[in-house]
Amino acid sequence: MTATNRIVLSSDHAAIDLRQAIAAHIAALGWEVVDIGPTTPESTHYPKHGEAAALRVASGDCRLGIILCGTGQGIMMSANKVKGIRCGVCADTFSARMIRQHNDANMLSIGERVVGEGLALDIVDAFLTADFEGGRHATRVEMINALEG
Ligand code: RB5
Repeated sequence: MTATNRIVLSSDHAAIDLRQAIAAHIAALGWEVVDIGPTTPESTHYPKHGEAAALRVASGDCRLGIILCGTGQGIMMSANKVKGIRCGVCADTFSARMIRQHNDANMLSIGERVVGEGLALDIVDAFLTADFEGGRHATRVEMINALEG
């Protein structure tokens, strides 16, 4: 059973500060935040953090996920290797809204070295307040899912 307001957060070492700012922001909005770290600044490997967060979403433990690295790109690529995950990198609010409305994205990736905190929080808000529109978009999301085999 998926907790409807539970969201997982993870990052690599390059995005700890922004991840913690996002965690505080969405907790204040009423989300149950599952922040799986890391919490210390030693260099680490983004694939394992992307996978760990993606497994929380794919298993149904969390409804959505937000992941971060320096660019948002490497951790996004890693999360998208987990079956059932549709994760997009966003550096603007339009894309963050559209990946929910048209692509039914269940994870958002942000690059701490790309966007400032103010824009990042707006991106998060756009992602979390948009809903999947279904219809013709559902057909296309089913086609994405079919590519997983
Ligand atoms: C770490 O230096 C950096 O490569 C990583 O955070 C991310 O940007 C990779 O996609």
